[in-house]
Formats: sequence, C-alpha cells, structure tokens
Amino acid sequence: MADTDTNVIDGLRAIVGDKACLDTAADMQPFTTDYRRLYHGKALAVVAPASTQQVSEVLALCTKHGVPVVPQGGNTSLMGGAVPDASGNAVVLNLRRMNQVLEIDAVNDTMTLQAGVTLQAARAAAETAGRLFPLRIGSEGSCQIGGNLSTNAGGTAVLRYGNMRDLTLGIEAVLPDGRVYSSLRGLRKDNTGYDLKQLFIGSEGTLGIITAAVLKLMPLPSATAVAWVAVKDPHAAVQLLTQAKRTAGQAVTAFELISGPALSLVLASMPQQSAPLPGVHDWMVLIELSSGGDAEGLDATLMAILEQGMESGLIVDAAVAASMADARAFWLLREEISDAQTREGGSIKCDISIPLSKIAGFIAEASAQVLALAPDARMVIYGHMGDGNVHFNPLRPKGTPAAEFLAAHYTQVSQAVDGLAHRQNGSISAEHGIGVAKRDDLVHCKTPVELALMWQIKRTLDPGNLLNPSKVLPLPAGTDHRATASSASTIGTAQTPARG
Ligand code: MLT
Ligand code: ZN
Repeated sequence: MADTDTNVIDGLRAIVGDKACLDTAADMQPFTTDYRRLYHGKALAVVAPASTQQVSEVLALCTKHGVPVVPQGGNTSLMGGAVPDASGNAVVLNLRRMNQVLEIDAVNDTMTLQAGVTLQAARAAAETAGRLFPLRIGSEGSCQIGGNLSTNAGGTAVLRYGNMRDLTLGIEAVLPDGRVYSSLRGLRKDNTGYDLKQLFIGSEGTLGIITAAVLKLMPLPSATAVAWVAVKDPHAAVQLLTQAKRTAGQAVTAFELISGPALSLVLASMPQQSAPLPGVHDWMVLIELSSGGDAEGLDATLMAILEQGMESGLIVDAAVAASMADARAFWLLREEISDAQTREGGSIKCDISIPLSKIAGFIAEASAQVLALAPDARMVIYGHMGDGNVHFNPLRPKGTPAAEFLAAHYTQVSQAVDGLAHRQNGSISAEHGIGVAKRDDLVHCKTPVELALMWQIKRTLDPGNLLNPSKVLPLPAGTDHRATASSASTIGTAQTPARG
C-alpha cells in the first residue's frame, strides 16, 4: 500500500473512529458488491460517518489527497450506482450510522431526518405521529432516504403523491471540499433564486453527498380499497385508468400493470401464494384507491369502476380484496416480481416511461421487436402504468442458462427497447437512475447541449471529479479519460456489465 493510502486511511480512522473504518477485503465485501451481486468493485476503505461534520471532514480529506468517494445508502441500486469501480482507489462512504429522525412537525406537516434512515423507519415515524410519508417501494426495509433522494425514487404511489422531488422541501448536502449546503427550513414557498436542492436530488451522489432532508407529510388515509383485475390488453388498462380517474379522482393511489409471465414467475417462486383470480391472465392491473372518507363509500367507488369496466368490455375478471390481509397478499405478488427475476439470474432491465397515450402501442411494438430478437424470452412486463412507467424486462426461457441468454441478447434487446422509447419521446430511465448501467446510453438520448450542461455543473461542483466518478455522466466525445477522471478513478473500466 502506498504511503498516501496509509495516510488517508489513518486520517479516516481519526475522523470516524476505528470501528467505522473498514479496510480489509473481507470486511469491505458487502459494500463493494450490490445486493443483486451483479456489480463487483474494490475500495481503499469503507467509512461510516456518524454526523454531517464527519462527512464534511472525510470529503475534505479525500479531496486533499485526490481520492474518489462513492456515497452509499442501502446499496439497493438497480443500476450499479452505489458500488465502487474495480480500481480499489475509492473510499465508500456509507450513511447507515446517520439514522436519526430529527424532528416531526405535525403542524407544518414535515419530517426532518438524516440520510441513513431507512424508508421503512421514515414511514413508521410518520405514522407514529399520525401522518403518512407516502413513498412506497419494495426495498423499503433496506433502502435509505439519502439513496431515495439521490435517485429521485418513485415506486407505487407516485400517481397520487409524486416522486422524491415532489416530496422534498429541503436538503443538506456536503460538497467535495467539505462545505455544507443546507435548505432544511421546511418552506413550501421560497422563490429566492435557483432551487439548488433539485440539483442534488437525482444526481446519484455525483455533485454532493446528501446528509439530511425535510420531507412532506400527508394525512393518513382512513380507507383503502384494492382490486386485482384481469384486463383485455394494455390498451384496455389505459382506458380503465382513465375511467377510474374520472370516477374516483385523487383517490386513485396506485395503478400497476402486470403481465402474465410476470405473475407466473412470482407464483412459481412462491408456491405458498395463490393467484387472486382463477388462472393467470395475459394482462392484469392492481388498483388501489385510498381516501380520508369512509370505507363503505370507497368500496362503492371501486365497485362502480369495476362494473363500468366490465360493461365496457375492458375487464375480463376482477377480485376485490375483502380484508387487509387480502390486500397485502395482492401487493406481495406485485412487489415480488423484482426479486423473482433476480432469483432466475436476472433479466434485461429496461425502465422506460412514455406518455400514457402511447404506452399500449409502445408495449405492443417493443414486445414484437424483442420477440423477433429473442423468440423464447419470457416477457416480464410490469410497473407503474399510472405514471406511464413500465419495467420492460425480458427474461431467459426456462432451461437456458441466464449467462447464455444475457450474453446473446442484452445489448440488442435493451437498445431496441430503449431506442423505441426514445424515439417516442420517452425516457430510458423512468425511476431507476443511470448509475453505470445506462451511463453510456445517455449519449444517444440527451442532446449535446444537455450533456454539456451536465458536465459544466459537474465540473463546477466537483472540479476534481471525485464524487461517484464514472457514474451517470457519459464522457464527452473525444475526451481523454485521464483528463476528466481524477488520477485515482477509472472511468469506463468499472464493473461487470449490467445484468439484472
Ligand atoms: C419495482 O417497481 O418493482 C421496482 O422498480 C424494482 C424493479 O423493477 O426491479
Ligand atoms: Zn418500479
């Protein structure tokens, strides 16, 4: 180990304490591999600061020595965004010790908390105060608020409540030189110039490390009604959504699309669970309504939506959850789709959004293109249809090893799906972010002006390219890697390619 590395590690220990600074390969392993075990990197050290002050000191020290820093929350990124590259030069800065809910202001309807609080703990704290923090994603027990912010997380209730950008009133973030930016004031109105917090939200730790936030709280719903519905096709699903919004307005909280192969996959991996309807249909939707009114009224609204859908031929069959246990069982089938794919060795991960008016046509066209390339692929298509967001994840046929399927089809299939989305004014990353998995694809879907502005902002806030280097930003054409990366980082040579 070089002298500088030893100095850096000694300096890190002095800041965070011995126990919170790991530097053996075995100790660091859980932090250098993502939870799906698809990205593998190396680190100089893994540190877990206990305060914003310590984060500031770690960053100042690393900047002084030109050492890259990879911020990490629950390490649940699907895009390889929280894992260091293979160089072994970076320090992983894990925020798990910064896990305090600092304040709940029930009058202001806000919650101030540190970045390392898990989403589950944040939701529980809000509920204890009689409020709802509405972000809902399958990994809530592991993912952390800082990660949710840095990827602008979405999930299953965006239709009603918005994503992290919509749910945040202020953040605190540490810059690479150790300065602390803070807007933790809980204001719903503040037109005093640029909204700087929005630069950090969704920037995947490439501009600063988010250490705290003020989040909006909502009233807890008093009634919830859930149905599992088989629909004729995705076009019928969109029409049903339009009817549901007309009938129930704001009460439409979630509207999730699930393809037959997606449900079959989950049922095969969870034999104790049964399908809500007899048989597996080609297309299904999970609808949730919620309100502050009475349960009977909401049940009647749901029934009206379903009856109308039946009469207009959109619905093939429907099951209404008769209890909270039923509702939870329906949701479990939806939330397990992601992990069920991981257990199968991973799928070709596309996370597209498209205007709702075009989404059914997109699904048909993208499916035809994928099946022309990989005729036996299982079409695991699901996601947040209410937001125009589909997870389009072709999976290996049974009997074909995952590695073989992915090596043969990953590039062509993802380019076909993402290319189609881009040509239809869609996005190639609706909610999962860019990380390393989609980084180089940005060249094809951002304009030269957008890319130049992204790099200008990056260079202004992180002139040494030390914060999460090699993530999000594709290199400008003709750029020498060494000119944009710090001497210690290795843009473009990072992890195992994205498979998941
Ligand atoms: C989901 O909606 O289940 C998540 O975005 C995770 C995934 O698609 O893998
Ligand atoms: Zn999702």
